[in-house]
Amino acid sequence: MSKRAPQTSTAKPRKSTGPVALRTKDFLTVTDLSRPELEALLNLALELKARPQPHAHALGGKSVVLLFEKPSLRTRVSFEVGVYRLGGHALFYDHSAERIGSREALKDYAKNLDRFAHCVVARVFEQSVLEGMAQHAQVPVVNALSNTHHPCQALADVLTLRQRFGKVAGLKLAYLGDGNNVCTSLAHALCLLGGHITVISPKGYVLPTDILDTCKELAQTSGGSLTTTSSLSAVDGADAIYTDAWVSMHHSDAEARYRAMRSYQVNPALLARAAKHAIFMHCLPAERGDEVTDEVIDGPQSVVYDQAKNRLHAQNALLLSLLAP
Ligand code: CP
Ligand code: NVA
Repeated sequence: MSKRAPQTSTAKPRKSTGPVALRTKDFLTVTDLSRPELEALLNLALELKARPQPHAHALGGKSVVLLFEKPSLRTRVSFEVGVYRLGGHALFYDHSAERIGSREALKDYAKNLDRFAHCVVARVFEQSVLEGMAQHAQVPVVNALSNTHHPCQALADVLTLRQRFGKVAGLKLAYLGDGNNVCTSLAHALCLLGGHITVISPKGYVLPTDILDTCKELAQTSGGSLTTTSSLSAVDGADAIYTDAWVSMHHSDAEARYRAMRSYQVNPALLARAAKHAIFMHCLPAERGDEVTDEVIDGPQSVVYDQAKNRLHAQNALLLSLLAP
């Protein structure tokens, strides 16, 4: 018998649904979506997970370029396999040797790629590169992580919460550690959907002010909330505990970060302060022994591999809606 908490029956799609009519051409941040659009994408993701067959040729004849300036396991593989499952063709373009825009102008990248491909999925350092690409490309541009946002991860995260708890509205999530790209997109998604997120970070590592302001605006409309604190007591009674690596791919100040965040580790004692039914979440890759211990990440409350698996379903709902409306 699995040691993991059973998934709720509400994991099933609520009604049969097709591609979601999105107002946006691109997906650069979670805030490109309205609450109804995000809810509809989650429904579609659940439908794709439960019944993939009707959509097996949805992207027939279409190519998606995956342009990556940084390493990846989950994002690359979930997009490649995901596009294949929708009947399309994914082309991986390793751009780790030089920054996009150094060999030729960003505008020229965009205007060349949109002649060949029907969508550009890009993992970059600067969010402005994605914005420039989206401005100049006729085709959709999808953010596969930048220094400041990771919206595809957030789609999978709220899908995982919805599967586990039936809904995101009203849930209490405590995020510990660095107020980074993953935290930003997660906070956007929870505040959009009426969830309550507390970001627990040491001084100097909280979310940027403009993100806090946007989240508070979103939360006001949805009935959710965003709180920031440096006190670990904010973990008490939470439905979900989330953490990410203290040193992201673009950070160069590792020593200072380890020193500042040492006491924010998610270990069994900390997890025990959360609700009994609480789940442990991490976008991965994890630095085991730093932000999380083996006991927690390998323990019965951990849903980290469900989150990874949900990347594919959430992204396919997005691709289907951007490319095959
Ligand atoms: N979570 C995530 O984006 O993983 P990768 O860096 O392996 O793609
Ligand atoms: N915050 C991490 C996320 C990796 C998926 C990073 O940017 O490296």
